[in-house]
Formats: sequence, structure tokens, C-alpha cells
Amino acid sequence: MAGYSEEVIQEVINANDIVDVVSGYVQLKRAGRNYTGLCPFHKEKTPSFIVSPDKQIYHCFGCGEGGNVISFVMKVEGIDFMDTIELLAQKAGITLQRQMTPYNQKMKDEKDRIYMLNKEVANHFYKNLYSQSGKSALEYLYNRKLDDETIKKFGLGFSINRNEMFDFLKEKGYTETEILKSAIVEKKENRYVDKFRNRLMFPIVDIRDRVIAFGGRVMDNSKPKYINSPDTVIYSKGKNLFALNVVKKQRVDKILIVEGYMDTISLHQRGINNVVASLGTALTVEQAKLLSRYCKEIVVGYDSDEAGQAATLRGLDILSSAGCEVKVLQLDTKDVKDPDEYIIKYGSGRFNNLINNAITLVEYKLNLLLSKYDITKIDEKVKFLNEMAKVLAVIDNDIEIDVYVKKISDDTGITKEPIYAEINKLKFKYANDLKNISAISEKTNLKLKKANNNNITQKAELYIIFLLLEKNINIYNLIKQKVNLDYIENLKYKEIIEVLYSYYENELYKSMDALQLFSNDEELQIISSTICLEYNDNNIGKIIEDIAKTLLKNKLEKRKIEISKILTQENIEDKEELEKELSEILIKIKRI
Ligand code: GTP
Ligand code: MN
Repeated sequence: MAGYSEEVIQEVINANDIVDVVSGYVQLKRAGRNYTGLCPFHKEKTPSFIVSPDKQIYHCFGCGEGGNVISFVMKVEGIDFMDTIELLAQKAGITLQRQMTPYNQKMKDEKDRIYMLNKEVANHFYKNLYSQSGKSALEYLYNRKLDDETIKKFGLGFSINRNEMFDFLKEKGYTETEILKSAIVEKKENRYVDKFRNRLMFPIVDIRDRVIAFGGRVMDNSKPKYINSPDTVIYSKGKNLFALNVVKKQRVDKILIVEGYMDTISLHQRGINNVVASLGTALTVEQAKLLSRYCKEIVVGYDSDEAGQAATLRGLDILSSAGCEVKVLQLDTKDVKDPDEYIIKYGSGRFNNLINNAITLVEYKLNLLLSKYDITKIDEKVKFLNEMAKVLAVIDNDIEIDVYVKKISDDTGITKEPIYAEINKLKFKYANDLKNISAISEKTNLKLKKANNNNITQKAELYIIFLLLEKNINIYNLIKQKVNLDYIENLKYKEIIEVLYSYYENELYKSMDALQLFSNDEELQIISSTICLEYNDNNIGKIIEDIAKTLLKNKLEKRKIEISKILTQENIEDKEELEKELSEILIKIKRI
């Protein structure tokens, strides 16, 4: 495994106070020892997100997310562990000594080289634009009503009409392998050919501000209009969004996703600062997740001819499944073909109105159906009702359904009854399908309920976790002495406690936080839910004794019930033994 040593990770954790880091994303208010704010991981109106400066952990009592500064940054930035360590180290001015396997080291170095290479290429393209050879390209951009500031902000450029990149990059010290892997240059019959020639260049930048690919547009009507970088070791079309790096730097309450580079850039220049573009593919699950991290409301502004297509509709459903509230932008005129033309012609005020008036996904789907079927014909009307029901039957909220049904009825003249009938028919079918599933999940639910009834025991067990997190060997010794691990009921807690035991046994507590040992979400959620627990040195002995007693008592009570149950049956073999055990248990319980 590639990685940094625990000591280095600890150094990075220590150098990044969790309150400081979280404050970069969430507005925090002091609340006693802790801070609270609105959880960045789910939508909420009242704060249930807590950060503890003492414990250096966070927990949301709304959605359960929790952990330390590392898991916070991983989640909120959507980057992996290694990238998070590097980001936090950089923030704190720590230089990292990498400890990687030779293979991973090589991969990482190779990627770093290609990021660097791309950056040089982007700079070169930008310079070209302002050189003699780029004159007409620059002219083209001015004609498209983009200004120098925007060109700079998005790093637009120009690739000249000659194969120059291989020599240029060789000169900068890049190897043939690196150059070919970047896909800036292709090898054709032993010749090095530039991927992009005589094109306007759009660098594609990831959320960490690294140039990962390029799009290149012709400046006349020749085909293909755009050439894009293929997927490379550092680029995957389906996992990135154009301009998300720009949008990410601002606080936005919704994101508009459009099709074109030009649309995106043009809207940004005119003050619509929350626009991204998909990269020439239908929206993927990864992109949806990426977006949903920044905000919940996504407005989709695809060209109308594209929007109705199956792939696009699937993209909208993917966004919706990722938890986004999906709206669809409707251009209110046929004079223009895309957002870029619209905003140039009608201005940002009117474009903002479009965004605010974007319709819901359901409304959009219904409109699409209405335009598809001629409901004056009986057979098409039946098809319409069928399709309409598929859209509405999945909505849980009856009031919402009522609104749509009324609208359909008003728009089509079909009375409400057959509309409801069709919806209910489907709902009934879905409910039946669900029965099988819920029969299975009910069993698990019962188990969960039982666990909840054992609230006091559960709390006591959680308290053990909390105390073991304190990095205090005396507390550990007391717990080890007093608490019998076999009495712990919650198996997940038990696993965590066992890990914490080994943390002390192996003296890891001397060099690192216990939280470093956990990376699994479920475990982090459990551990961070201890965020509000407290103890003081004077009564620690008593607390641990109480915990031990609670666990013992619970164990005995359970056994008591078990034996009592058996004893109600007839013809029990070891009746006497059981009765003896029961009376002993009763005495033990009294003594506690
Ligand atoms: P303009 O036509 O200059 O306004 O550009 P645009 O960005 O508005 O492009 P358009 O709406 O035609 O296309 C939307 C997006 O689809 C582009 O930004 C590209 O990502 C992609 N695209 C368009 N044409 C092509 C093509 O010929 N090949 C490929 N691979 N992608 C294309
Ligand atoms: Mn366009």
C-alpha cells in the first residue's frame, strides 16, 4: 500500500485545526465547548452538525456523518485519502516525505509529470493566442463576444497549424512516453502529429486546478467542430465537469449544467457564475455525485433538441437518484439556439429569470409526453395515460401528485378520475413488488428496534469507546480491569473497542490519534457520535464502574429472561440446574 507513516499523518492532523478547516466550508457558531453549523453533507435548516475543538472531531446528528479533519476534507472535497493528506499538508506548509511502494511512487510521479506537461501546454496555447499566429483566433473570440479577462480566466488558447508540440515538450525535458501518454501528440507511421492543430483551445481543469485535458474548436464550419482529449491516465470524461473548478470557489445555491464550453464561458463572463458543462457525454453517476456535493439544486440547460433524447433523460434521472433536485431550463424564445446566443441577445437579467423559472423534472417529463402524443386519438390517449402514470406513481407526496393531476387535467381536458385511476393502478403494482423486499427488511428492522430498547446498555458501550479515544493509558487500564468485553452486545461497537484495545497494547497511543485507525464510514459515524460526551478526572473511576455494572446487569437480565422462558415449557431436562442458575442470577442482580 502506498502511504505516509502514521507519524506524518498525525503531524498533518495536528497542523490542521478542525475548527479552522471546517470554517472554510461551514459557518460555525460557538455552542459551549463545541461549535455548530449547517451540515454540508445533507440539506438542513437548523444546525445538527457539531465540531469539537477538544476532540478534533465532527459529527452530524442529522445524517450521521462524522470523523476527523481528514475524513471531513475527503468528503467535502470528494478526494481520496492520499490527496487529502497532501492538500492538508500543503495548507499547513508541511513538506511530505512519501513512503510509497516503488510501483505506486512511479504511477504518482508519472501523473504529476503529465499534470505539469498539460500546464505547460495550456500556457503555450494561451501565448499563441496573443502572438502573430493567433491573431485570427483571438479575433474569433472577440467576435464571439468574449473579453480578455474571460480568456485569461478560462485559459483559452490557440494551437497553431503545424506539428510543434513534440519538439516543444522534448525541449522542456519530457520523454516520448510522457508526451504520448498525455495525448497531446499522437504517433502516426513514425511521425509525431499534434492532436490539436489550428484550433481554439479550451483547457479542462479539475477541481484541484490541474489541467487534465483539452477541447479544441475549429474556427470555421469544417468538421469535426470539436476534438477532445481522449481518456488518459489523468483524465476521465465521465468523472469531470468543465468549469466546476471555477464554480467550486464560490458559494452557490444551485448549479446550471449546460452542453457547451462556449455556453459556460459566455454565461460566466456575464455574471452567471454557477455554470458547468458536461464533457460531450451524457451525464454519469460520478458526475452527479460530484455535483451533489456542491449543492442540491441542479438546473439542466441543454439545447431543446438534445434535451428530449433518451440519453439526456437518463442523465436527469441519474441526477435525481443522486439526491439532486433537478430542474430543467426552458428557453422562452426560438430565436436563439443555445444559452450563449440567448444571453448575448437578451442579457443576464432575462437569463436569470429563465433559471428561476426552470421547471421541475416531473413537469418537464409531462410536457414531453404531451408534445409526443395526440390525445384526441384514443390509442394515443391511452399511451399518454400509461406513460404519465409512470412519471407520477413514483412520487410519494400525494399533494404533489394532486397538483400535477390538476395541471394535466387542465391542459388536456381529460377528467381527473381516469388520471388517478391509472396512477393508482401502478402504485398498487409497485407496492406489491415492494412487499417481498419489505418482508426481508422487516426482520432486520426488528433487530434494530430491539437494540434501541437497550438504550442504557448501548450508551454505556458507546461511553467505553469515548473514553478509549482519550489517549490516556490509565483510563485504558481501568477499563481493561473492570469491563468484561464479552458483555458488550453491539458487535460493531465491540469490534471498535477491540481495535482501541490494540491501540493501547501496541503503544500506538503514544504517537497517533485513535481515529487514524478507522477509515470505514460506519465506524467513523459511531465513533464521532461520542462528540458530546464528557468526563472529568475526579469521577472517572466511578464512571467506569457504572459502565461495568450496567453491562453486567444487562447480561444477567437477558439470561434471566431466557431461563424464565425455557422454564415455562414442559419436560425440561435440566430443570433443576436452570432454576438454580436463575436464583443465583436474581441474587447477583440485587447486589449490583
Ligand atoms: P459553439 O458552436 O461555438 O457555440 O460551441 P458550443 O460549445 O456551444 O458547442 P455545441 O453546442 O455545438 O456542442 C456542445 C458540446 O458538445 C461542445 O462543447 C463539445 O463538448 C461537444 N461537441 C460538439 N461538437 C462536437 C464534435 O464535433 N465532436 C466532439 N467530440 N464533441 C463535440
Ligand atoms: Mn454554442
